[in-house]
This record gives sequence, structure tokens and C-alpha cells, in this order.
Amino acid sequence: MNRFQQFLAAWILLVLANPLGAGTATITIDAGKPGPKINPRMYGIFLEEINHGVDGGLYAELIRNRGFEDSRAPEGFTLQNGRWRDAKGYDAGFAQFGYATDGVPFWSLVKQGDAQGTMSLQTSGGITDQSPYCLRLEVKDSGLRVAPGGSVKAEGLGDGVPRSQNHPQAALEGATRGRIGVANEGFFGIGVTKGEQYALSLYARGENGFGGPLSVRLENASGQACSDTARVENITNDWRQFKANLTASRTESKARLVIITGGKGTVWLDFVSLFPARTWKNRSNGLRCDIAQMIADLKPGFVRFPGGCVVEGGTVETAYDWKLTVGPLEQRQERWGPWNYRRTHGMGLHEYFQFCEDLGAEPLWVGFCGQTCIFRQMENVPMEEMGWVRDNFLDLVEYANGPVDSKWGALRARAGHPEPFGLKYVEIGNENAQRAYEERYRFVYEAMKARYPDLVYLADLSYYRMPPGLYDIADRHYYNNPAWFMNRFHEYDDRDRSLVPLYLGEVAVTSQDGGPYRGNLRAALAEGVFLMGCERNADVVRMVSYAPLLAHVDGRTWNWHGMIYHDGTRVFGTASYYLWKLFGLNRPSHTIQTDVTLAATTPPAITGAIGVGTWNTSAEFKDIRVVAQSRGGSVKAEGLGDGVSQSQDRPQAAPEGDTRRSVILFEADFSKDATGWQPDGGRWTVENGAYRQNRRAVGLSYLGDESWSDYTLTLKARKLGGAEGFLVVFGRKGESKYWWNIGGWNNTQRAIEYNQSPVGRPVRGRIETDRWYDVKVELAGNRIRCYLDGQLIHDTTAPATERFYAVAGRDESSGDIVIKASNAAGEPVTATLNLRGVNELKPAGAVTVLTSSQLSDNNSLDEPRRVAPVETRLNVTGREFPHEFPAHSFSLLRLKTQ
Ligand code: AHR
Repeated sequence: MNRFQQFLAAWILLVLANPLGAGTATITIDAGKPGPKINPRMYGIFLEEINHGVDGGLYAELIRNRGFEDSRAPEGFTLQNGRWRDAKGYDAGFAQFGYATDGVPFWSLVKQGDAQGTMSLQTSGGITDQSPYCLRLEVKDSGLRVAPGGSVKAEGLGDGVPRSQNHPQAALEGATRGRIGVANEGFFGIGVTKGEQYALSLYARGENGFGGPLSVRLENASGQACSDTARVENITNDWRQFKANLTASRTESKARLVIITGGKGTVWLDFVSLFPARTWKNRSNGLRCDIAQMIADLKPGFVRFPGGCVVEGGTVETAYDWKLTVGPLEQRQERWGPWNYRRTHGMGLHEYFQFCEDLGAEPLWVGFCGQTCIFRQMENVPMEEMGWVRDNFLDLVEYANGPVDSKWGALRARAGHPEPFGLKYVEIGNENAQRAYEERYRFVYEAMKARYPDLVYLADLSYYRMPPGLYDIADRHYYNNPAWFMNRFHEYDDRDRSLVPLYLGEVAVTSQDGGPYRGNLRAALAEGVFLMGCERNADVVRMVSYAPLLAHVDGRTWNWHGMIYHDGTRVFGTASYYLWKLFGLNRPSHTIQTDVTLAATTPPAITGAIGVGTWNTSAEFKDIRVVAQSRGGSVKAEGLGDGVSQSQDRPQAAPEGDTRRSVILFEADFSKDATGWQPDGGRWTVENGAYRQNRRAVGLSYLGDESWSDYTLTLKARKLGGAEGFLVVFGRKGESKYWWNIGGWNNTQRAIEYNQSPVGRPVRGRIETDRWYDVKVELAGNRIRCYLDGQLIHDTTAPATERFYAVAGRDESSGDIVIKASNAAGEPVTATLNLRGVNELKPAGAVTVLTSSQLSDNNSLDEPRRVAPVETRLNVTGREFPHEFPAHSFSLLRLKTQ
């Protein structure tokens, strides 16, 4: 058979194998038409202390509240009616993970049998000025029996381990009457692995006759030993550091560290630390091997750190001050974080830089710009006090890059890194807003640019438009639902190329339809379409990173997610992890022209429920009515529950000769209540026969059935106050919806949007306050007509949703053609790949597919690779060959040219 016959045979086979439902497409790739170069460091990571991802995760310390500083009040907050709030009332979230100022969080007293004693917190007298809190244990009776001859007898503690491993007086015989000491529960349990060694370090001092010893070991919840026992002796009146090794005798994800006293008197403890002896790259004060390796496997081009909201803090006092995070651990001051727990700063500035270096990634530092988090209660450092904020940026660059005889460069050298870290990227602020941001940004930027003209400066413009000339790259953040991402393949196609390039620093599906972990197959595929849109516009989008990166399965703040989850001993990546990894590991040198044609499909009719709402505005709605046009048949109205008018009993008269019938699907009656409406944000009440959104906020309320189509929605709307006008929702299905945004963009425009992407053209116009408007939206198939006060404002059709996307590029180092394709449809797509501009393709290529049986499938601790890429050989039969892309899949094809 010649090539053509081979192709034909394969094609016929595919078509026969796939007779029903499959789509067909042609992907034409022209390697002779190169597109933009792709930044070799385009795919990176954003590493923030959130979800106990660093403390309790990546940073390998196993003891929680090691310095006993967790009883401190959150800095800058005061106790108001039982809650720690800032001056503007923002709640620090102190209670979420069990913090308390009047106890010793995450430590407990172990008191068994006849042993007598108490545990208390001391707020002064600790090992350093920066870590003054410590723990005091008063022992009246240790539970040990004095044996004849003056020795002490230790007794079995009921766990079946040899007595010699149970107690400091191990060699002794007979029964104890109990035991007393303290235990630490770690971060949701201490994870230990059988056979592994753990480095124990603690500071202790004694008084009132206490000379020790202490015995220390790991135990599980029922008191069974999980390790051998270390013995701490010669405790004196002065603080001394003691070190020992423990070897785990079993694997346990929720062990605790138990410290038992062997004498009477008073003993103080501080800075109790337990680290796996093996850390990633064997760094001291290092990182958990499994989590760090998962990150390394992504081969990130850069690391944006340390936040995020962590940089901004909830108060100025809790904003990230890197100077508190360097030097000896015992001298680093901990701080309350915006994610409802205290940051130890164990993984401090130096450790972040070291991690970047070990990963081979560019560090991208984000510094506090003088404005706290705008989603908490924004505070601005007064301009006349901005000196320290500016100096923190200037000094940071000296720490990273300065000579060893400079003040901060010397500190870096003392920490073991005389060579500069080579910092190039600096971002001034995170998700800031308003003119106050620009003032503070300029103040820092001007000083930085004067001293360090060659650095690359980034401004986070997610919530502010800064004039050009002040930054080299603009950072933008996107959290949204799968439909939103799925619709953004073309997002950057028309961007003005004279604008600065973009870094999309925080990107992720965050909605419920991404599953409880937010990272199911549906979410991953949607993020994939968005990333393909970025890659084909790589001249605009220079860098991109997912957020947040890490999460402890028990340590998520609010409902935040992670791309990599862990518990004490296990780790897994979500479907998104594998999707992003495929992009990071298969980044071509440049794009090549790729055109996809899908066999023509009829655009589907718009179907879905209705709604009303506002954007930063208060408004009310009445006389809401939905009337369907049946197309030559009867219309079946779905039950809407009590209080909602139904259609069947009220058919409308149709014009003579017209076979269509009008059927009322819904008619509001706000004389009583708002039965059937589902509010989502804002505050909704029924007032004087109207449905009112009382807050100047984003607030929507929905009603109806997802199967509704070909209907006319009419209503009256009145603005009561605020920035914009009305949102009139139609075609709502799941988390996808259309709305007519009347008075959007600060009350300047009217536009139809689908998942906030424009449909048709916007029209200028504003909405007056306190005036009733007549609104009508008419749906016929996929045609949308919108009227305001009887005047036709828009007449447009919803575009057919693309369900199949492809991009291609060339990897100059291997010569490979790299093709990425996403089939979002529920059926396979059989495509003809048509390669131009290449002399030859080798017959053996490779195809890697990420898919699963259900869109809601994801990985978990128990099934870490349920949704994971599978690579197989790709038979390339020439420069034109067919390939089937499975339903709901992302595929990566590598075609060899050499
Ligand atoms: O990624 C979590 C948070 O989301 C980041 O801290 C912040 O920048 C964003 O709002």
C-alpha cells in the first residue's frame, strides 16, 4: 500500500469503529509558519503559605507550636465580643484551627495513674527575645516508684512494647503508678514512616529539684509506641539544647510526640522540634521529600513567593516582613497569617531562595507594598511612614544578590550561601486596589528602579489599572468556574501587542463544579483550554501559574483548594496537577500555525433558567414574567413549586394561522413572598410587591428550569443606589449563564455576556437611579434580542460553543512537533492531522492522554493516580493521518522529525 492507501485504510477503520456521535475535524499544522516564541520559563508555580501547605506540609517540621508562640493574640487584632477583630471589624479567624490565648494550643498534658502535676503557658522567660513564650510543667508526683536501694521503677504503660522502650528508667523492674508529661499532636497528626529516622531537638531547664530525666517517643492514639525512646538527662537551671534521634517502629499518619518526666519539680520546655532526618536535597531545616519532589516534577520555570494574601496580611502588623524570617530559627518572630493560622517562618526567605535554586527555577519575589488585603479590611500604611516598606524591598535585593561584605549579603553568606541567588523578578504588591496602591507602588518602584534598574518589575493589576511605564509585566489573577475557562481559548488573540506582556500569577477553577478538591477532570480540561489559549499567544502571556499550590487534606482554610494535597505520610496531585505538568514538560520553543476545522454543527438553542441581580448596586425587580413560544408543538412547563404560576392552565391566544402557542412558564407574585427564587449573594427581600436586592453588592437570584428555551422574559427594574445597573440572567445551566448587563462598567455600557465573556457588541448607556425601566429579553433558538423601554438594544446570536481545540509548536532542541488538543465533548473526535512545512515525520510518535470515565473524577490519597496521563506509541503514517481524540480528554502528541 502506498501512503495514501494506508491513510485511507486507517481512516475507514476509524470511521467504522466510530459510527455514531463522533465529531470529525481537521487539524492543519504548518511548521513553516512559526508563531511567537514561548518563554522557556512560561510555566511556574506560586508558592504561598495557605492550607497548611508550608507549615504542616512542605516545610518538614513535624511539631506544631514548637516555640509555644501560638497562644499569642493575632497581631493588630483586639478581642471584641469573643472574636479577634481588626480596627474595622475584620475577624482574624482565630478559632478555625483551635487557637486560644489562654492555653497551649496543640499540646496536652499526659497524666496517667497516680501521677500528679500541671502544665501551663509562660509568656516570658523563653529561650530568646523573639520566642519568649515557653511551657512549664510542674510535677508533684511522677508516678514512679522508688525501689528498695533508692532506684526508681518504671512500669509497663500498657502498649505491649518492651519496657525498655517505654520509660527512662527502662532497665528497672516492677510497676509504676502512672506517668506525667506533655504531648504534641503535630499538624493534624504527626506522620512517621517505619524505619525512618527523626531528629529531635528541644530546649529544657529545671528547678525545684528537677534534674530530669525526660523520655521522648512517638505514640499513636492508643498509646502504642511508634518509635524508640530518647532520654534527656542533665537538665540544669539554665536553658540547654538537647538533641537525639528517634527511629520509627511503625508507619502512622497521626502519631504524637510524648515527653514524659522522670522526676519531681518544675521543668520548662521551649522550641521542641522533630524533623525527618531525610529532607529534600538533604538540606538542614529542609523540606518534606515527597511534597518537594511532586513540585520538582512539575519542572517549574519560576517560583512566585511568598504570597498572595500572606504578603498583604489582614493588618499591617501581620503583613509579610521578610526580616522576621531570616537568621537562626529561634530568633525568627512568628506572625499571625491571613489564612487563619500562625506562620512559623521556619521556611523563611533564605529557604525559599534555596528551594528555587534547588528546583532550577527563577525566584519571583512578591513584597508588601504598604496596603493590606483588599478582601479583608484594606489598610494603607500612611505615606509618611512608608520608609520601612520601601527599605524592605531595597534590602531584600541586597540579601539576594548583594556582596558578602554588604549588611544583608553578609547574612546570606552566614546562612551558608555566599554566592548571590540572582534574583531578577520583583513584584510590588499583590491584588491591591485604588489610587492608594498606585501611590505606594510608585514610591517603592522609583526607589527600586533608581538602585536596581535592571530588575524586571511586576505590578498586580488584577483589581487596578496602573498607567503604563511603571512596570515591565502586568500580573492578573483568574479564579472561576470551568465554563469560564472553557470559553477563553481566544482570550488573548486580540490583545493590543503594544501593551506590556502578562503574567497570570493565580489561575484555577474554584467553583463547586470542580469537585470538593476543585481539581477534577472537568476543571483540568477547562484550565487546559485556557492554557492553550495562553500558549498560542505566548508573546502576550509570558508566564502563568496555578494557585494555590499546596493543601493539607485537613488544613484547608475556608474552602480553598490545592493542586497537591497531602496528609502526614502521603501526597497526591489532582487532575489539574497532571494537566499543568503536561504543559510544563511539553513547552515548545515557539508555536506554529494551527488551524482547526470542525464539521459544521448547528448552534444549539439557548436553554436555561432565569434570574435577576446587581453588581455593586442595590435594585428591585417586579412584574417578572417568562413566556415560552412553542415551535409548532405544545410546550411543557415544568413544575416550579408552590406560589409560582404554571403555564398549562393559561395558554395565550396565538395569531390566526400561526401554529405556535405562547405558554406562561412563570409569573411573579411578590405580593406575598419570593417562593422558588434562589439567592446567591446580596440580601434579598420582598418589599411592596417587588423583589429587592438591598446591598450595594454583587447579588443574584435565580428561578426556573434548565430546560427552558425559546422564551421571552419581561420585567420592571429600578435602581436604588450604587455603582451600576441591573443584571438580567437567562439561559442559566449549572454554573453557566448569560446575562444582560444593563449599566455595567461603572454604569457606562449595556452588553450581553456569557460567563462574563461578551456576546455581540456592547452599547453605551447608563441607568438612572429611582426610575422604573421595562426590560425584555427574547430568545428564539440561539438568537437573543434585548429591549429597554420598548427599544431594541441588542439583536445577536450566541456563537456555537467550540468543543475541540488544538495548538501546536516546535521543540527546537528535539525537532519534535508538539501538539496539544482538548476534546471537551462527550463523544470522541476523529481528526485528520495535516502536517505542512516538514520534510518527514518518523513513524513512531507518542501520545499522552489525560481522561477518565467521569468528568467529576479526581485523585485522592487512596487513589492518587485515578486521573493521570497515559502515554502510548503513536503510529504516524505520513504527513496526513487520522487520530481519534477520546471524549472528555486532553491529548499531547509528539511527532518526531529527526
Ligand atoms: O491563592 C489564594 C489567594 O487568592 C491568594 O493569596 C490571593 O492572591 C488570591 O486572592
